Amino acid sequence: MKNRMTRIALARRPQGAPVAEDFAFDHMDLPDPAPGEVLVEVSHLSLDPYMRGRMNDVKSYAPSVGIGETMTGEGVGRVVATNDPRFSVGDLVVGVTGWATHACLSGSALRKLDDSLPPSTALGVLGMPGFTAWASLNAYGRPKAGQTLVVAAATGPVGSMVGQLAKAAGMRTVAIAGGAEKCRIATETFGFDAAIDHRAFDTASALHTAIAEAAPDGIDIYFENVAGMVLEAVIPLLNTFARIPVIGTIAWYNELEDSADRLPMLWRSVLVKRLSINGFIVYDHWDKFDTFLAEVGPKVAAGEIAYLEDVVQGIDKMPAAFAALLEGGNTGKLVVEL
Ligand SMILES: NC(=O)c1ccc[n+]([C@@H]2O[C@H](COP(=O)([O-])OP(=O)(O)OC[C@H]3O[C@@H](n4cnc5c(N)ncnc54)[C@H](OP(=O)(O)O)[C@@H]3O)[C@@H](O)[C@H]2O)c1
Repeated sequence: MKNRMTRIALARRPQGAPVAEDFAFDHMDLPDPAPGEVLVEVSHLSLDPYMRGRMNDVKSYAPSVGIGETMTGEGVGRVVATNDPRFSVGDLVVGVTGWATHACLSGSALRKLDDSLPPSTALGVLGMPGFTAWASLNAYGRPKAGQTLVVAAATGPVGSMVGQLAKAAGMRTVAIAGGAEKCRIATETFGFDAAIDHRAFDTASALHTAIAEAAPDGIDIYFENVAGMVLEAVIPLLNTFARIPVIGTIAWYNELEDSADRLPMLWRSVLVKRLSINGFIVYDHWDKFDTFLAEVGPKVAAGEIAYLEDVVQGIDKMPAAFAALLEGGNTGKLVVEL
C-alpha cells in the first residue's frame, strides 16, 4: 500500500536478551510533512548495539525509548515529499528515522548524501560507527608506531575501522573476534596482524594466554568494545602508560541492572559519564617541582595554606609509629624528631 507505512515500536522492556514480544508492528497512513519537514521513504535501516540500552528505563547519555514509541535508529532513504525548500523529491538522505519504512523529519535533522558510494555506507563505515572509531582512537587511544593495539568485535564497523587506522599508524594490531571465519576476515580483509577467537576459550585465563602470545610486547591500546571476559583477559597484559578508550561493553548489555557484580556498572559509568581515570606516579611529574614550590611555598609561609604535623620523638618509636600510620593512628603528616 503506497500511502501506508510500518513502524516497529517498543512493546515492553526486555528482561535480559530482547525477544519478539518486546516489539510491536504498527501500520498507519503516511503523514504529511509540516512546514520545514521532509517525508523520507527509508531504504536502509541501521541496527546497532546501543539500541539495547535505549530499551531500558535507566538514566543514560541519551533518553530511553518509551513504551509504544518507535524504536530509535538511523536510516537512509529518498525524499518522497518535502516542505523544506532545501530538499527535493528524490534526494538521498540519512537521519534518525527510527525503525520504520517512512519518517517525517525536520529538514535540519537530515544530512544529504551523494550517490557516489552505496547508501548503506552512511550507516556504517562512513556513518556513526566509523566516526566513533576514528574520533575515539585519535582522542583517547593516541596510536603510536611500534606499539600494540587489541580490539574485540574486530570485524564490526567500529573494530574493523580501529584496526585499520591503528595499522596505518604503524601499530601491531590484534583482533578478538567470535569464530574462525571472523578471525580469517579480521586478518585477510582488515589487515590485523593476529586474530583470536574468544569463543574458543572457556576462561579468561586461557584467553589471556592466547592474547599474550599474539601481543608479546604487551598491550598499549586496549580499545574497549565488549568488556566481559575479554577485559578480564587483557588487564594483566596492559603496558605502563597504556590507553583504554571505553566505547562499548556489549558483553554486559543484557545483564540485569541489579546484578551483584558492580564492575559492569563501574565500567559502564566510565563510558556514559565520560569519566577520566588516570594512574599517577609523582616522579613522572618531578620536572614541575620548582613550579609547585614557587606557587605554593609563599602561601604556606603566609598561612594561606594550613598544614598539620604529628611529631613522634625518637628513632626507637619509628616501627610502632609506622604501624600506627597504616591503621590511622597519626593525625597529620607523621614526622619523627630525633
Ligand atoms: N560509545 C559510543 O558512542 C559508541 C558508538 C558506536 C558503537 N559503540 C559500541 O562499540 C561496540 C562495537 O559496535 P559495532 O557497531 O561495531 O558492533 P558490531 O561489531 O557490529 O556488533 C557487536 C559485536 O560484538 C561482539 N560481541 C557480542 N557479545 C560479545 C561478548 N560477550 N564478548 C566479546 N564480543 C562480543 C560480536 O562480535 P564477535 O562475534 O566478533 O565477538 C558482535 O558481532 C559496541 O559495544 C557498541 O555499543 C559505542
